[in-house]
Amino acid sequence: MTQVPFFSFAAMHNALGEAPFDIFRRFWDKQWYILGASVTEFEEAYARWNGTQHCVGVANGLDALHLALRAMDMGPGDEVIVPSNTYIATWLAVTQTGAIPVPVEPDLRSYNLDPARIDAAITPATKAIMPVHLYGQSCDMTAIMDIAAKHGLFVVEDNAQAHGAVHAGKRTGSFGHLNATSFYPTKNLGALGDAGAITTDDPQLAEQIRLLRNYGSSRKYYNELPGYNSRLDELQAALLSMKLPFLQQWTEQRRSLAAMYIAQLADMENIVLPEHTSPESHVWHLFVIRTKQRDALAEYLGAQGIGCMIHYPLPPHLQKAYQTLGYRRGDFPLAEQIADTCLSLPLFPGMSEQQLGQVVAAVRRFFDSGGVSKVDKG
Ligand SMILES: Cc1ncc(COP(=O)(O)O)c(C=O)c1O
Repeated sequence: MTQVPFFSFAAMHNALGEAPFDIFRRFWDKQWYILGASVTEFEEAYARWNGTQHCVGVANGLDALHLALRAMDMGPGDEVIVPSNTYIATWLAVTQTGAIPVPVEPDLRSYNLDPARIDAAITPATKAIMPVHLYGQSCDMTAIMDIAAKHGLFVVEDNAQAHGAVHAGKRTGSFGHLNATSFYPTKNLGALGDAGAITTDDPQLAEQIRLLRNYGSSRKYYNELPGYNSRLDELQAALLSMKLPFLQQWTEQRRSLAAMYIAQLADMENIVLPEHTSPESHVWHLFVIRTKQRDALAEYLGAQGIGCMIHYPLPPHLQKAYQTLGYRRGDFPLAEQIADTCLSLPLFPGMSEQQLGQVVAAVRRFFDSGGVSKVDKG
């Protein structure tokens, strides 16, 4: 039986042909490996593409979030509103500064931070809101920016999963005061290693990040503040510049695959399909369905040679890493419900209609046969 992988680089790598190897040869000969022309070139290209004045390349997405908060002087005594339903990096960035993450539940239709719940979480200590465009779908940035303006709060978008998603005519990563993204290899725009960036329209904050990422220094061996080493590699920057022009076509492929899944699974009563407000609002980093029989379905698909994953099996408030925050099961029921029922089906540029058909057929077979397997029977 043909296997359907959860993800594959093959078609994207094929489209790039010899270009990555040419880049490596040039990089080898250039003999300049840290903070050079390739980083600057990518920063300018990405800022233009994202619709922001500035982009500062950093080592990874977590550092991008963390340095953004540092540049805003976040620290002990401050509170930052974060989604209860997110990858743990969003919370880690907050706790790395000494500030407290204050979770807010999602809207179950989008899985994103529910703006209607934010006001109730704001206290005199609140300093920022960190919306995460989860699975590739834009948050309601109009509502979130209005709430932030009303209360005088910073906004840091976590755009790690949503390069190119559009809300109200603007790309995500261009709404907040400082916005972070990741170019982890499997992200919609991925490097061949760790990489990340911060986007902003604020020149002073951009300058602050440039200092923070490079030991707090703008002049070699003179340090203006206690910074970090979190620089985007020259090689990764050159590879990202090469891939950026392909991103739109890869996104369109993701969109048409998602539309096929939605059309072909629409009649299935046992699963909740992802909802989105408009075609451009979602870039389908992940195609996430929900079902009460998630574990059994995952096991069945695995046995059929179909890759699937869970994003994410345990919300941050229940992770051992955050035991000290004192949360218990039941504190954020929507995040817990998503964690207990979500399943990501294969979706990647280059995935064929036939492969998608195989996944759909297997999902149907599972439910047609009663949807029970060893996991359900215990
Ligand atoms: C929502 C979200 N935020 C932050 C990150 C952190 O990015 P990185 O792995 O590049 O540190 C990731 C990805 O891993 C992510 O999915």
